[in-house]
Amino acid sequence: MSFRLNGVGLTHANGFVALKGVMLQAEKGERIALIGPSGAGKTSLLSVLGTALAPTEGLAEVLDFDQNFWLTAEVKKLRTHIGSIHQSPPIPGRQRVVTAVLAGKLGQWPAWKSLASLVYPLDIAGARAALERVDLADKLFARCDQLSGGQLQRVGIARVLYQQPELILADEPVSALDPTLALATIRLLIAEAEARGATLVASLHAVDLAIGNFSRIVGVKAGHIAFDLPASEVTVPLLHDLYASEGDELPVQAHEPHFLSQAAANEAATRAACC
Ligand SMILES: Nc1ncnc2c1ncn2[C@@H]1O[C@H](COP(=O)(O)OP(=O)(O)O)[C@@H](O)[C@H]1O
Ligand SMILES: [Mg+2]
Repeated sequence: MSFRLNGVGLTHANGFVALKGVMLQAEKGERIALIGPSGAGKTSLLSVLGTALAPTEGLAEVLDFDQNFWLTAEVKKLRTHIGSIHQSPPIPGRQRVVTAVLAGKLGQWPAWKSLASLVYPLDIAGARAALERVDLADKLFARCDQLSGGQLQRVGIARVLYQQPELILADEPVSALDPTLALATIRLLIAEAEARGATLVASLHAVDLAIGNFSRIVGVKAGHIAFDLPASEVTVPLLHDLYASEGDELPVQAHEPHFLSQAAANEAATRAACC
């Protein structure tokens, strides 16, 4: 088991209820896409899975440790096995790209090595190899504030490739990339997870990216799980219902909405099977 959320609720400090009664479980190596309208609770859910926020209700277990453990100093060790890709990576602008990538392993290294690496990067070859995979090897010594939003997003991905965590949590990891690069980057994350048997949970704005690449799709709406289905069973009406608060248009990335015909075919198949 990679994680288990049992009746998880999360009320933010200002009293806002971001999650309620969430039941969600994943085996090691599963790859899950989270979709849902803006404000649905996807980032809140990923923050709980990343142990950054403890549930205010229910029970959460991540990599075999429950939320009581998250409050102890030992949680640092657990977090070295979790790699988070944030929508806007929290990287100091003055930092060099190489240092930002090596930060992926800071928690795994002894303190002397982490400190030394901040002064002089200790594993330049490792950082370069990770950056090559996101096509940014030429930016190794660039300052992060010289990069575009899309490049910075890929530095955040390179950091997690370098970290090699058991659980990869990606919050809209390709929101700043053009459709072609977004697709390639999602495939890279999936290939990485598959090759290492890591669990991957990615929230995605574009439903076609989710359905076309992930086998399990979790729809999040108003703080709860609206559906949890194999991609082959996600239908157009289900998607319209999920995104009802955002109007009639479904958020898709590709101009050619062939995924919709896939979702329509799913629907026809489901209907044929039941009636
Ligand atoms: N730190 C916070 N304090 C108070 N409210 C928050 C906080 N973070 C998120 N929220 C609220 O929780 C709801 C869910 O947000 P979020 O998890 O970011 O949704 P999503 O990622 O699906 O857009 C939103 O209405 C948001 O305003
Ligand atoms: Mg979000």
